[in-house]
Amino acid sequence: MAKRNIVAMPGDGIGKIVFNEAIRVLDAVGFEANYIHADIGWEFWVKEGNPLPERTIKLLEEHKIGLFGAITSKPKDTAARELSPELQGKGYVYYSPIVALRQHFDLDICIRPCRTFKGNPLNFIRRSKDGGIEEPVVDAVIFRQNTEGLYSGVEWTNPPDEVRRALETHPKMARYKDVPSEDLAISTRIFTRPACRRIIREAFEYARKYGYRSVTICEKPNVIRETSGMMRNEAKNIAPDYPEIALKFTNIDAQMMWLTKNPEDYGVIVSGNMFGDIVSDGFAGLVGGLGFAYSANIGKEVAIFEPTHGSAPKYAELEPSIVNPIAMILSAAMMLDYIGEGEKAEKIRKAIARVVEAGEVRTYDMMRLPGGPDVIEKGAATTQEMTDAIIKAL
Ligand code: NAI
Ligand code: MG
Repeated sequence: MAKRNIVAMPGDGIGKIVFNEAIRVLDAVGFEANYIHADIGWEFWVKEGNPLPERTIKLLEEHKIGLFGAITSKPKDTAARELSPELQGKGYVYYSPIVALRQHFDLDICIRPCRTFKGNPLNFIRRSKDGGIEEPVVDAVIFRQNTEGLYSGVEWTNPPDEVRRALETHPKMARYKDVPSEDLAISTRIFTRPACRRIIREAFEYARKYGYRSVTICEKPNVIRETSGMMRNEAKNIAPDYPEIALKFTNIDAQMMWLTKNPEDYGVIVSGNMFGDIVSDGFAGLVGGLGFAYSANIGKEVAIFEPTHGSAPKYAELEPSIVNPIAMILSAAMMLDYIGEGEKAEKIRKAIARVVEAGEVRTYDMMRLPGGPDVIEKGAATTQEMTDAIIKAL
C-alpha cells in the first residue's frame, strides 16, 4: 500500500519534543508514512512576519491530514518587539496560527476524548456511600463547535452607529439606551443551522461507531434561547435517526457541577464553542489534565490532530526533557482512527494503558511534582523514557 502523506507541524517549545516522541511510537506500531515537515510558529513570525506561512497552508491543502505539536503565542506588543528588525514597523500583526488554521480550513468540529487510564494517580476520586473512596471510570468525548459562537471574533467596543441602531430594534436593548457607545462592549454569539446540524450528526455517528449510549447537548437554552435553542432543536430533529442512542440535555452550569458528581453518566457531549471549551477542560481535569488531553480539529476536507497543551517554554530547554508525551501520542492515535488505522490506534492506547497501570514509569506531572530539572532525581521519568516504555509495551 502507498505510504500516507502526513503534514508534520511540530511547532515551538515542547511541541517539537513531544512531536518526535509521537513519531517514534507511530513507527514502532508499524504505521508507514511520509512526514512532510511544515513550518509553523514563533520562529516564522520573527523571521517572516507570519507564523503560518502560505507554504504550510499549501501542504495541508494537498495532503489533508496534519499532526501538530504546539505553538508559542505572545501578547501583541511583545510580538511586535520580537519581530526581526527589518520587518518592524511594516504593519505585520501577530495572530495565533492554530486559530488561523481552524478558520482557514473551516475545521468546525473539535473532538476531545477524556478517558480514564486505570492506575493513573491523577484520576478523579470521590467519596463513596460507605464513606470510602471510589474512582469512577470517565469515558466522555466532547464535541465542541470550533468556528462559531462567542469565539468567532464578531465583536466591538464602541460599536459603530449602524450596529447600535440595528441592536436597538430589539426591545431588550432599551435598558442600555443611556449608555454611551464608548462604554459598550459587545461580543456576538452566532450559531448557524448547518454548523449545528453538522456537529450533532458527527457526534451521533461517533456514538454509533464507538458504542456510546448517549449524546448530551450541553448548552443553556432556558436563557440563551436563540443559539442554544437552535442546537437543542436540531438535536431533536436528528436524534430519531439513532434510536439506539439516548439524547440528553444539560445546562453548562449544572454540567460543571455534575461532572464531578457523576462523570461516568456521560458519553458523547455536544456544545457550542465556548461551552465546549469549558466542559472539555473540566472533563480533562478528571483524567489527568494537560499530559493526557488531546483533540482533533475536523473539517470537510482537512483534519488536524493536536495535544491540548501549549509549548510550555519553561520546560522546552530542559535536558533531559521532563514533559509527558502521552497527550501528543494519543493525538497521533486519534489521527490513525481517522484515517482508517483504528487497529494500530487501539494498540497504542493499550500500550499506554499498560504503562500507566504498571506505574513504574511516570513523568513529573503524574507524580504531582512541581516541574523542574530536579524531578528526575526524585524518580520522575524523562519524556524519552516514557515513550520507550510505551514502545516496549507495544
Ligand atoms: P502550556 O500548556 O504550554 O503549559 C502550562 C503548564 O502545563 C506547563 O507549565 C506545565 O506545567 C504543564 N504542561 C503542559 N504540557 C505538559 C506536558 N506535556 N507534560 C507535563 N506538563 C505539561 O500553557 P501556557 O504556559 O499557558 O502557555 C505556553 C505557551 O503555549 C504560550 O505561548 C501559549 O500561547 C501557548 N499555547 C499554545 C497552545 C497550542 O499550541 N494549541 C495551547 C495553549 C497555549
Ligand atoms: Mg481551552
